[in-house]
Amino acid sequence: MERIKLAEDLSFSRIIHGLWRLSEWKQSEKETLALIEYCLENGITTFDHADIYGSYTCEELFGNALALKPGLRERMQLVTKCGIVLQSPNRPEHKSHHYNTRKDHILRSVEKSLQNLRTDYIDLLLIHRPDPYMDPEQVAEAFHELKQSGKVRHFGVSNFKDHQFDLLESYLDFPLATNQIELSAYNLENIEDGTLNVCMKKRIPPMAWSPLAGGEVFSSNNEKAVRLRDTLTKVQEEIGANGLDEVLYAWLLNHPAKIMPIVGSGKEKRIESAIHALGHKLTLDQWFEILHSSMGHEVP
Ligand SMILES: NC(=O)c1ccc[n+]([C@@H]2O[C@H](COP(=O)([O-])OP(=O)(O)OC[C@H]3O[C@@H](n4cnc5c(N)ncnc54)[C@H](OP(=O)(O)O)[C@@H]3O)[C@@H](O)[C@H]2O)c1
Repeated sequence: MERIKLAEDLSFSRIIHGLWRLSEWKQSEKETLALIEYCLENGITTFDHADIYGSYTCEELFGNALALKPGLRERMQLVTKCGIVLQSPNRPEHKSHHYNTRKDHILRSVEKSLQNLRTDYIDLLLIHRPDPYMDPEQVAEAFHELKQSGKVRHFGVSNFKDHQFDLLESYLDFPLATNQIELSAYNLENIEDGTLNVCMKKRIPPMAWSPLAGGEVFSSNNEKAVRLRDTLTKVQEEIGANGLDEVLYAWLLNHPAKIMPIVGSGKEKRIESAIHALGHKLTLDQWFEILHSSMGHEVP
């Protein structure tokens, strides 16, 4: 599988696997291990986590599976996030839902992630969402300490706009490696507001979350979803894809920004769709037809 270079000593598989929904899949440790091995065997070596996924349970479920074959750790890149504080029965001390990007919280969160994931380093740590209360000095101190100790190798952000990205980066003595943003043919906000352009300007390949709009493209009967499904079906037939999901992935993969879609399904068949999509070339007619059907009108 194609690899995308994010730093001198960091590359990701073009397709990433996301573990947000892992606790919903009700897998045994062995089944999760089989899923990890399926990904690795097919070239998907990058796994996306967050401290809060599954109400603070998903990292541990993954870590427990990994502990069955610890040797696999060296064959993968682990991404995790911090900065959101959720109310959860698993964290009774959390009194409210808020953000916390203070140094002590980031350090504590990373310690917990390391413990849960059963690893002694994280390849990439992201600040999960822009924090209106963020003190960039605090984040920078945490990042520098984590880098120095070797507990985290690279740093990035998620859901940041240009000014928020620049603010944080201006306090660091190394570049942020990526911005993980919502991106799909169904959700165009980060294309329309220039966030994707900014990634290209900064030469950082973006990670795309909810590349299938969380399944909404398939399940919703609103006008946009219906229009988009019609066009995706037409393009699917033209390129010989196996399903609409392949066309949605191909739409992202054909864009010049080196977008890395994060697959959110635990089913092998659906992960395979993302891998197949790497082989589909879209013509400009097809790419714009999909864009137009999502926008509901043609470009001017
Ligand atoms: N940084 C952030 O703020 C942020 C936010 C959200 C997500 N993420 C990351 O992005 C990853 C992917 O997000 P996502 O899970 O929303 O991705 P997604 O691929 O857009 O959505 C996955 C959902 O779509 C369903 N689906 C997939 N293929 C389908 C098909 N052919 N027909 C019907 N339903 C289908 C899946 O169901 P099945 O499970 O049945 O296959 C699953 O419920 C997450 O795991 C997480 O790592 C990051």
